[in-house]
Amino acid sequence: MQLLKDTILKEGLVLSDQVLKVDSFLNHQIQPHLMLEIGKAFSRRFEGEAVTKILTLESSGIAPSVMAGLVMNVPVVFARKQKSLTLKDDLWTEQVYSFTKQTSNEVAVSKRFLAPSDRVLIIDDFLAHGEAALGMARIVELAGAAVAGIGIVIEKSFQQGAEKIKQQGYRVESLARVASLENGQVRFIETESQEGVSC
Ligand code: G4P
Repeated sequence: MQLLKDTILKEGLVLSDQVLKVDSFLNHQIQPHLMLEIGKAFSRRFEGEAVTKILTLESSGIAPSVMAGLVMNVPVVFARKQKSLTLKDDLWTEQVYSFTKQTSNEVAVSKRFLAPSDRVLIIDDFLAHGEAALGMARIVELAGAAVAGIGIVIEKSFQQGAEKIKQQGYRVESLARVASLENGQVRFIETESQEGVSC
C-alpha cells in the first residue's frame, strides 16, 4: 500500500535493526485519513471471505480495525489485555507472550461477542513474532468460529511471524512488508499482493 509505505518513510523512526517507531500516525497519535485508507485496503484484500466480524488486540490494533469494520460494515471486537484473571467463566482467554516487550499478557474476549457462525478477520498493527495474531486465532477457534484471515498493517518480514502464521494454514495479508531496518534505513519487500492497485 503505497500511501502507508510513503508515510513510514517520511515519519517512521528506526530505533534499532529490530524496532520501527511509528507513533506519529499509528501507535500514539493516529492519522484518521490514513487509517481509513488502511481500512479500505483490508476490505479489498479480504473481499470474498464473507467476514462477519473483526477481532483485534488493544490498543494500537483498534484504529485500523474500526476503519476496516466501517468499510466492511461488520462489528469490531478488541481483545483486552489483563494481568491475571480470577473470574473467567464468561471469557475466552489465551496467554500471549511479547518477545519485543518481554512480558506475557492474558488476553480475553467475552463469549458474547464471538459465535460459532462467525467468520473472523484478525487485524493487528505490527507482525513481529506472530504471538498476538496466533493468540487471537486460538481464541477464535476456542469459540468454534472460523478465522477468515489475518490482516497486518506493518509486517517485519525479517522476523518469523508471517512464516509461522502461514505454516498454521492461515492467510496473512500485510499492507507494508519491511525487509530490513539495517543501517537506520527502512527497506520494503516490493511486491503488492493481488490487490492490484496501489493506494
Ligand atoms: P508479535 O505479537 O508479532 O509476536 O510481536 P511482539 O510480541 O514482538 O510485539 C509486541 C508488541 O510490540 C505489540 O504491541 C507490537 O505491536 C509491538 N511491536 C513489535 N515490533 C514493533 C516495532 O518494530 N515497532 C513498534 N512500534 N511496535 C512493535 P502491544 O504490546 O500490543 O502494544 P500496543 O498495541 O498497545 O501499542
